[in-house]
Amino acid sequence: MNTMRISGGSPLKGKVRTQGAKNAALPVMASCLLLKGQKMILDNVPHLQDVETMMELLRSLGVAVAREGNKEGSKVVFDVPETVSWEASDALVRKMRASSLVLGPLLARCGQAVLPLPGGCSIGSRPIDLHLKGLTQMGAKIEIRNGFVYAQAQRLRGRRIYLDFPSVGATENLMMAAVFAMGETIIENTAREPEIENLAAALRSMGVQVDTEGTGCIRVKGVEDVHDCSERVIPDRIEACTYILAGIMTSGEITVEDVIPEHIDALLAKLEEAGASFSVKRHKSGNAVVVHPVKKLKPISLKTMPFPGFPTDLQPQMVAALTLSNGVSFVEESVFQARFLYAAELNRMGANIDIKGDTAVIRGVGRLDGASVKATDLRAGAALILAGLAAKGETRVENMEHVLRGYEKVESKLRALGADVAFEPNERER
Ligand code: UD1
Repeated sequence: MNTMRISGGSPLKGKVRTQGAKNAALPVMASCLLLKGQKMILDNVPHLQDVETMMELLRSLGVAVAREGNKEGSKVVFDVPETVSWEASDALVRKMRASSLVLGPLLARCGQAVLPLPGGCSIGSRPIDLHLKGLTQMGAKIEIRNGFVYAQAQRLRGRRIYLDFPSVGATENLMMAAVFAMGETIIENTAREPEIENLAAALRSMGVQVDTEGTGCIRVKGVEDVHDCSERVIPDRIEACTYILAGIMTSGEITVEDVIPEHIDALLAKLEEAGASFSVKRHKSGNAVVVHPVKKLKPISLKTMPFPGFPTDLQPQMVAALTLSNGVSFVEESVFQARFLYAAELNRMGANIDIKGDTAVIRGVGRLDGASVKATDLRAGAALILAGLAAKGETRVENMEHVLRGYEKVESKLRALGADVAFEPNERER
């Protein structure tokens, strides 16, 4: 059991630096599979469980992966041999859904790939039908047998693909699949998340022409060969916003460094509407958001949407913040089917949240009280930590392993902001 204790109720103060983005690092790491006897150097790679899982998966396929500075550094070198295995390990794919991102590059490079079908998870069924439909349209033969995807294509063919939904993972898999395809692949109605642009930059660094235009249409010109490349992972907008909310919920005064304000516009707009006080500082060396204390947030309504809409990955944290507003808020989840499991845990802390279909109705309460609660997934865990920081008394967040998948050094970062947090005995921060 992995449990964090939080003695809540005091305002956070100080500075916190944003980690490299988990959801940008994972697809860029998977894209190294397109290299043959070449290297990728990736900087600002966060120290996270999901990143370790992707490293393990790449190693299992034959890639030599090394972090600089005895595992402590944020620069990682991927040394990719002339031949790699095309069969992804069942155990690793089950551990992390984003493992399915190796399908596109493996198929493009090896002409075949075997991937265990990733199962559902606690936020919804999460199929990969859009990934498979796009690959089929590019000429791949796909069979699903005994829970495995078998994909084959001597050489994929570039063509126009329309995504029925702007899926982040499908966009990324198809961009990578298109690299060695014959001719140009045009993907329409793509995801426009900033992480997609990071992947496009990595592919360009390999010598591939990728036009993204930010309009939901991506063009990739197929090539015969790629070359050594290097890229830097963008700052993690979800982690940054989680700390911004921690500052707001504790009436604290904190600075969140290394943010790209354009990536977090949706949160900042909703916070402004809710009466939060913050300023955006722009510096050549990196931008920051400074949070100033306010007593109470005003209630608001919002709906999660693909980027540039309000991110589903911030929905639980925002709901946690709204539990302390002075009225009734409505938060509609439109990206995943079952992303309110954590609401019952917040209610154990004195919140008043009613789930009506896809919408959480949040009646603001005067205060939250510490309790023992369980993280049901990564962002749910983050929401419970925020609630614990704001609550009176002691909160125990169980199942912290979910949180460690996506938040680097969460214990020491919170402590540096003055929070009274600690893993229970025998548990060490990773
Ligand atoms: C990525 C992020 C995740 C985030 C999500 C939405 C990574 C590693 N993870 O996940 O943190 O919550 O984007 O912003 O980047 N869908 C289908 N068929 C498909 C693919 C998706 O029906 O083939 C549905 C999903 O079930 C879900 C919705 O589309 O309801 C969004 O999924 P998608 O954008 O693909 O998210 P992921 O790439 O899995």
